[in-house]
This record gives sequence, structure tokens and C-alpha cells, in this order.
Amino acid sequence: KTDNYILGIETSCDETAAAIVKNGKEIIANVVASQIDSHKRFGGVVPEVASRHHVEQITMVLEETFKKADMTWKQIDAVAVTEGPGLVGALLVGVNAAKALAFAKQKPLVGVHHIAGHIYANRFEREFEFPLLALIVSGGHTELVLMKEHGSYELIGETRDDAAGEAYDKVARVLELPYPGGPQIDRLAAEGEESIDFPRAWLDKDSFDFSFSGLKSSVINKTHNAAQRGENLDKHDIAASFQASVVDVLITKTWKAAEKYHVKQVIVAGGVAANQGLRQALTEKFKRTGIPLLVPPLKLCTDNAAMIAAAGFVSYKQGKRSGWDLNANPSLVL
Ligand code: KG4
Ligand code: ZN
Repeated sequence: KTDNYILGIETSCDETAAAIVKNGKEIIANVVASQIDSHKRFGGVVPEVASRHHVEQITMVLEETFKKADMTWKQIDAVAVTEGPGLVGALLVGVNAAKALAFAKQKPLVGVHHIAGHIYANRFEREFEFPLLALIVSGGHTELVLMKEHGSYELIGETRDDAAGEAYDKVARVLELPYPGGPQIDRLAAEGEESIDFPRAWLDKDSFDFSFSGLKSSVINKTHNAAQRGENLDKHDIAASFQASVVDVLITKTWKAAEKYHVKQVIVAGGVAANQGLRQALTEKFKRTGIPLLVPPLKLCTDNAAMIAAAGFVSYKQGKRSGWDLNANPSLVL
């Protein structure tokens, strides 16, 4: 038998997801049950609410995945599950489901790092060529990762404070936009002008680290100060100016790292990779450098289980297995 089918399970945050993927690069079924509507009224993800939803949804999501794939357990080679990082109570639901199923069906169990999953969301589009550079921008992460081969990850830069998506969500709150704020700001930014000068944190000259808390504070201060003077800054312009600052730093550092490490591909991953401003600016920048840029389709940017199955396939092929003592690890390192 040459083909491998991996069942992926993802419950690290607010999406209950399962998927079946063939050979790490072909999606057979991909089911995502979003909880966004339940968290909206709280303005963010409430961990306890998230865990409870996962428990309610997971069985149905799994059943639907097999139904959509028109497959049975017999055809599944391994179960891959996000073991971290994420919300511990949320992760536990997926990990326990995966353990129970793998044990009952006598399938190998493979724990997957959530960020490895985000990176492998790109492999559905095109085969990886190494060395490659991955820019991961999500609600919990902003990282530059160098990969020299499948399954190997070298962290060359990360945020020292807020993640990019976190900054988007916090600024959105100040602008009184609904959760999650990223897509809202993206939409406003498209109609605004970059008329407000917000700071860009370059940090040390050769550093590939990021910082977004100063920018966030600057947006909050300028908005409040204007309000106190009785002025109202245009939300579109705030969004456009804020986004310009984020995109400028992300692109500049990614491009510098790509040159320094002579990479053959640049990959963008994570929820903020859905940002239209970022996608456009990256595409233009890399068109000129000649380094191929991979950006996942919108649906695969945010959390899903197809990406977990794709990353799990690589671990599976490399012989990596998790034991029945696999546990959720909220601060798992890549
Ligand atoms: O990867 P993801 O679904 O969950 C984490 O692993 O964190 O990313 C969610 C983050 C949120 O902060 C959300 O506001 C942001 O991605 N996001 C966006 C856009 N779509 C989602 N940020 C900017 N522009 C977007 N279009
Ligand atoms: Zn994620």
C-alpha cells in the first residue's frame, strides 16, 4: 500500500476541527465548527466556554468528516492531533478524543505542534523546497522559522510582546469593532488613507524579532487624545495606518531573513496570513526578488485540522509516535 490517510484533529482555540488528508498534500475532507458567534458577545475567546463547545462538537465533527470523505476507520493510517500550544482545556478535548479513538481503532497516534500545522497548510498548494522561510502570524504567534528539511524548525525571530493578530484584535476593540478584529480592520483599511504616523518597531539592526505593543499603545493613545480634544479620527484611516505599520515591519524583516538565509521559498501562515493588505504587499515585494512566495488559500489560513493532518503525515513518515500518555501542552515549543 503506497497511499497514507491521516485523520487530523484540532481544538487548540475556538475551532473544533477534523480532517482526512492523503499523503500530506491532498484534502479528502475538512470540517471546521467555529465558535466565533459564542465568543463574540464577550469580545474574545473565553477558555471555559471554548472547552465546553469542543466537548459538544467533537463527535459530530468527526462523524461528518468520515461521511464527507466517504471513508471508514479501516482506511486510516494514523491519528494526528494538536498537542499544543493553545488553551489547555481546549487542547485536552482534542488530545483525549484522539487518544481514545487511536487506542480503540489500534492506530498510531502522532502529536502535532500547532504552528507546524499552520506551516504545512501551504503544502496543499505546492511542494516545499528547502531551505524555506516561514512567517507565522496568528492570534498567538509572530515568528520567523527557517526549515532545512521536513519536520525541522529553527526559530530565527519572534515577537517580544504581542502577537500580530493580538495587536489587530486589541486595536479593533479600541475602535469598537466586533471580535475577531483582524478581518474588520482589514476591511476598513482598504477604504482608509495612511494619514496617521504610527511607529514601526525595528528593534536592533540585525534582529528578526518583532514588537507590536508600542504600536498598539500608540493607536490607543492617539485615538483617546483626539477624542479628548473633541476630534474624531476616521476609523478607516486609523485602520489603514495601523495596518501599514504592521505590514511594513513584517515584510521588511521577512525579506531580509529570506536574503540572509538564501531560501528557495517563503511561506506565510496563520490567521493574519488572511490579511489582504499583507498578502498584496508580500506578493509585490517577492515578485521583484524572484523568491517564490506561498500563501495559503483563505480557508486554510485560520485554524483547521487539514493542516494538522498534513504536518502529522510528515511526523508519521519519519517514524515519530506519541504514547498513550500524550498530554496537552499549552506552551509546547516548536
Ligand atoms: O491562526 P488563527 O486562526 O488562530 C491562532 O492560532 O491564533 O489566527 C487568528 C487571528 C486573530 O487574531 C484574527 O484577528 C486574525 O488571525 N485574523 C486577521 C485576519 N483574519 C484573521 N488579521 C488580520 N487580517 C485578517 N484578514
Ligand atoms: Zn492557529
